[in-house]
Amino acid sequence: MADVPQDILSEIANLERLFTVDTAKLKEVTEQFIVELKEGLEGKGNIPMNPSWVMNFPDGEETGRFLALDMGGTNLRVCEITLVDEKGEFDIIQSKYRMPEELKKGNAEELWDYIADCIEQFIDSHHEEEKDSLEVLPMGFTFSYPATQTYIDHGVLQRWTKGWAVDGVEGEDVVPQLEAALRERNLPVTVAALVNDTTGTLIASGYTDPAMRIGCIFGTGLNGAYLETCGNIPKLAHMNLPPDMHMCINCEYGAFNSKGNHPVLPKTTYDVMIDEQSPRPGQQAYEKMLAGLYLGEVFRLTVVDLHDNKNILFPNQNIDAFRTPFCLDASFLSFIEEDPFENLSETQDMFLDKMKIHANKPELELCRRLAELIALRAARLSACGIAAICKMKGFDSCHVGADGSVFNKYPHFKQRNAQALREILDWPKGKKDPVVVSSSEDGSGVGAALIAALTVKRIKEGVT
Ligand code: GLC
Repeated sequence: MADVPQDILSEIANLERLFTVDTAKLKEVTEQFIVELKEGLEGKGNIPMNPSWVMNFPDGEETGRFLALDMGGTNLRVCEITLVDEKGEFDIIQSKYRMPEELKKGNAEELWDYIADCIEQFIDSHHEEEKDSLEVLPMGFTFSYPATQTYIDHGVLQRWTKGWAVDGVEGEDVVPQLEAALRERNLPVTVAALVNDTTGTLIASGYTDPAMRIGCIFGTGLNGAYLETCGNIPKLAHMNLPPDMHMCINCEYGAFNSKGNHPVLPKTTYDVMIDEQSPRPGQQAYEKMLAGLYLGEVFRLTVVDLHDNKNILFPNQNIDAFRTPFCLDASFLSFIEEDPFENLSETQDMFLDKMKIHANKPELELCRRLAELIALRAARLSACGIAAICKMKGFDSCHVGADGSVFNKYPHFKQRNAQALREILDWPKGKKDPVVVSSSEDGSGVGAALIAALTVKRIKEGVT
């Protein structure tokens, strides 16, 4: 970094101080994480630890045709999955639909109508001829929000996350709401299972890998799931379930450290602003610092601060293009990180095209470092959730299945996350990592279909 002016250099050093999370901090966060995971199993504290009523991995003998509806944070996807006779094999057809922004803050009726319309379109386009004679298709509904489930095919939304705020759904069972819209259209579909994306990921990955213990998502939101034994879930004690029976727990650990007497998250003023300006302040503290939805926003708020209050970036230029909340997504940061550091010419062109800003070389270097610091912090801090489950459960070695746009697409995320795990869990250098996080099967599609298949099988066998 030759010829970089002193004020930019000292601002880079300042940002490094703000965003760097060292090993000691990672360990401190992980220890508090274990406390909050355990509190959640007792029905207390920040982390919901939701029982999912998925009790085991499929054995590969499941067959049949299923739908999967994936309602994540960004898109809507409808899949039809046929589990064929060969163990572990399946065929899939799928269509993606855009989730209009206004629906995310609209009302329940509009939301379910839109979703049912997409399912209808899917059936019309893939089963035009047989529409009236189609057998009823069991559907796995991947609803990637915290839900209280007392049965696998029901779920009361605890609260919206990931910036959603649809009226009339919080505190309600989402399954009858969707089914009413399906009935209005006479669609031959019934919801067999309501599934979180993390649970789907764990089950889909465990289908082909017996060492699989944790499913997690690093995407628009952030979360993890694992199999617990019922004897370790005090909040289910009143149900007298066999203590060694398995139960998949959807942790909802994006809520880690949201409130309480032990704040350990190294928040910056930008994180505080994101929380305050969100539709649900005081919730999802961990997720709001790390998940894909927020990475671009941390970058944007920092740039605006360095322009407006410190006069360091783009002095005397109009930065209005940076003023719209959430106008930058994580792909903006990954674009900058992928541009070769030597000249950053593509970043320079992008700033001009998209943001109408003439960025000089030192400014580009600062932006590049900022993108790197924000993403590095996310990758490192997000290892704490995985490490905490491993430590709590005594998993010395295992596989973790991961899905989500940040995990799959963000440059260096996997390596950075693995490095943080090594530091937290004190693994010796140069040896094979005992816990390996790798890309999972499609949990929200295939995983949801498998869980629907398991449920149908359980009902046929008379086990409820
Ligand atoms: C949010 C949701 C959670 C989901 C995660 C990843 O944290 O609350 O249910 O698993 O995003 O999509």
